[in-house]
Amino acid sequence: MRRSIKKVAAGLLATMMIGTMLTGCGGGNKKDSGSSKKETSEINIGFSQVGAESDWRVANTKSMKSALTAKNGFKLSFADAQQKQENQTKAVREFITQGVDVIAIAPVTETGWETVLKEAKKADIPVITVDRQIKTSDDSLITAWVGSDFKKEGVKAAEWLIKEKGKEKGDVNIAVLQGTIGSSAEIGRTKGFKEGIKDQKNFKIIASQTGEFTQAKGQEVMESFLKQNKDIDVVVAQNDNMAFGAIDALKAAGKTPGKDVTIISFDAIKAALKKVQSGEINAEFECNPLHGPRVAELAKKIMKGEKVDKIQYVDEQVFTKDNTTKEVINKRAY
Ligand code: AHR
Repeated sequence: MRRSIKKVAAGLLATMMIGTMLTGCGGGNKKDSGSSKKETSEINIGFSQVGAESDWRVANTKSMKSALTAKNGFKLSFADAQQKQENQTKAVREFITQGVDVIAIAPVTETGWETVLKEAKKADIPVITVDRQIKTSDDSLITAWVGSDFKKEGVKAAEWLIKEKGKEKGDVNIAVLQGTIGSSAEIGRTKGFKEGIKDQKNFKIIASQTGEFTQAKGQEVMESFLKQNKDIDVVVAQNDNMAFGAIDALKAAGKTPGKDVTIISFDAIKAALKKVQSGEINAEFECNPLHGPRVAELAKKIMKGEKVDKIQYVDEQVFTKDNTTKEVINKRAY
C-alpha cells in the first residue's frame, strides 16, 4: 500500500474514532472534529534547498516557503545546504528520520544521490526534485521533477547571438561565466549554447570558468578574464548575479557593458531587467524560480495517490530592450 494511501486511511480512522468519542460524550462539536480532520491531512514536507547564492535562489526559497504553509495544509522542514551537497545528504537523512511524508530537493549537482535516495525509497517517502535535476540509474527514486529546460535556455541564447553578431566579418570572442559545475543549470546552459553556436565559425569561446552563480565570484573571474584577454566581445553569464559582478569588473576596466561588450545573462530577475532597459545587459533568458505552488500541488496529488507527470518544464521568455518595458519590470514578481 502506498504511504500516502496508508496515511489517508489512518487519518480517516483517527477522524472517525474522534468523531465517535465526541458523539459518545454527547459532544458532536463541529469545531473540534474539523480541527482533528485538518491535523490528520497535514502534509509533512522536508525541503533541502541549495543555499542563498543568488537573488534567484532567494526568490525560489520565498516561493517555496509561502506555498508550503500550515494554511495550505503543510508542515515544512526547511534546510539550507549552503551550496554543499554533503549538507543536502545530511538533511535528507534527517527528513527520513523525522518520518516526513514527502521530500523536496533542489539539488546542488546532478550526481551523487543514489545512496540517500535509495534510503528514502526504502522508507517509502516520495521525492520531488525542483529547479535542477538529479541523474540516477533507477528512475523510480524520483517521483516527479519541476523546473526549467536549461539546455533550451542555452540554445535560445546562441540563436539570439547569431542574429546579433553572426554576420560580423572578424572573430567574435566570447567569455563564459559558468554556474556551479555539475549543476543542471550549468550543464544545460553550457551544452545548449555550445551546440547552438557550433556552425558559427567566427564565434570563439576564448575563456570559460565557474563563478559559482555568485556576484562576488563572477566579478573576480571577470577581472581575471580581462587581465588575460583584452578583446572580449561577448560575456555569457549563466546567471544574473554573475552578470552584475561582470558588469562591475568591466566598468572598473574602463569598458561600457552592453556597448563595448555584449552581455547575455540568465534568470531575468527584476534588477537585471532594469539593466536591460538601461542597456547594460543586452539579452536576458528567463529562468522561473516560482516553483512553490507547483511543488505544493504535486505533493498534494502524490499524497492522494494520484498520478503526476514525472517531468514538468515551465515556460520561459526572452527579454531584450524592445520588450522590457517599465510595465513589465513593475509587474515582475522577483
Ligand atoms: O538552478 C537555477 C540557477 O541557480 C539560477 O540560474 C541561479 O541564479 C541559481 O543560483
